[in-house]
Amino acid sequence: MKKIAVFASGVGTNLQAIIDAIESGDLDAKIELLVCDQEGAFCIKRALKANIPTFVFTAKHYESKAAYEQDILQQLQEFNIEYIVLAGYMRLIGHTLLHAYQGKMVNIHPSLLPAFPGKDAIGQAFTARVKRSGVTIHFVDEGMDTGPIIAQQEVDLDDNETLESFEEKIHAVEHKLYPAVLQRLFSEGKTSV
Ligand code: GRF
Repeated sequence: MKKIAVFASGVGTNLQAIIDAIESGDLDAKIELLVCDQEGAFCIKRALKANIPTFVFTAKHYESKAAYEQDILQQLQEFNIEYIVLAGYMRLIGHTLLHAYQGKMVNIHPSLLPAFPGKDAIGQAFTARVKRSGVTIHFVDEGMDTGPIIAQQEVDLDDNETLESFEEKIHAVEHKLYPAVLQRLFSEGKTSV
């Protein structure tokens, strides 16, 4: 069973999907720690409800990214974390964590990368009126949503689609795809594509 840390900044529906997949036996992993950079974020409540320890930090209280990542790294080592799973963590990962978790850190992004990286990818795709967008799961590198792609799933943007209905479709795919891909990744032990 893989020991993982989930990093999140917001409501944490992907965190919840991972918690649920573990509880139902579909994902052989244990979330040992939630790392969150936003005090009061709803993902913290989800973690506490599932008895997952949390490490909540405020980036501006630190001198640098390296300084807060060093604190995070210490936590990860105390919990013997094997994989970092980013799930709506709204910060670029720096050298400290990249170096320690090379090939052991994955992210989910709500577009078919390399299209629409960065913030509000769903809104970007909707505004561009693409025929389809989707979800990407990738290894993390130093770029913004640029690492090697592990899995992608398409989601159609229908003619009568609203932004809300499109968001719902994307999130529904995320919540199934992320646990399934993590399960495959952990069982195969792949660190590159
Ligand atoms: C998801 O759409 C994920 O792909 C992106 O951020 C969003 C996080 O949503 N990286 P949630 O906090 O998991 O609900």
